[in-house]
Amino acid sequence: MVSKVILMTFICFTINSIVIGHFIQQNDIDDIFVSGIKFDLNDPKLNDNVTYYSYHIHVYFLRTSFKERNEAIQLRNRFLNKFNVSSCNDHCETWCPRICHWTLNMSPVGPHPIGSWGVYIPLEQFTQTISFISMYHGSLTVLIHPNSGRPKIDHLINGLWIKSILPLNQKQLSDNAPLPSHRIIN
Ligand SMILES: *[C@@H]1O[C@H](CO)[C@@H](O)[C@H](O)[C@H]1NC(C)=O
Ligand SMILES: *[C@@H]1O[C@H](CO)[C@@H](O)[C@H](O)[C@H]1NC(C)=O
Repeated sequence: MVSKVILMTFICFTINSIVIGHFIQQNDIDDIFVSGIKFDLNDPKLNDNVTYYSYHIHVYFLRTSFKERNEAIQLRNRFLNKFNVSSCNDHCETWCPRICHWTLNMSPVGPHPIGSWGVYIPLEQFTQTISFISMYHGSLTVLIHPNSGRPKIDHLINGLWIKSILPLNQKQLSDNAPLPSHRIIN
């Protein structure tokens, strides 16, 4: 009797692994992520002569989940306090004078498909801020992407994800953003 139960459990496990293994494949992730992108990912020139001027961190949460929303708000408060972050006066697509944050998005905004909050990160603060978010993201999904003045490539191809990969709204990402030299006023 006991051996039958063990055998059945083993068979169920095996079938499950085969089924799950079949459904979650690298190609599926690539399909979600890369479908519709017109860049040739194997083109060695794609990232030639490119400068990363800064990074953005985007933290995602399901606004319908009270628990996740709370977790995201708490992490945001903790992050903003820890790094003394003031609010951004600008989109800061490639460059801003200091670390800064945008407002909390309770619903999809721009390329972000669910609730989110974000911060602009100067290169000098990359290590501390990314270490912090990597340690304390809890159950939240995070995107860290560079800003080279090519929002589409920066978000869709060269970004780093923590925990999960979300399908971004590609239509909201432009090919080019103004470079810092056009921005620096003083
Ligand atoms: C690299 O970029 C700089 C500045 O945009 C430009 O002046 C230079 O010609 C570029 N070099 C190559 C090899 O494309
Ligand atoms: C916090 O940042 C502001 C600028 O946004 C700066 O004036 C202030 O000195 C900073 N405080 C600390 C403790 O670093």
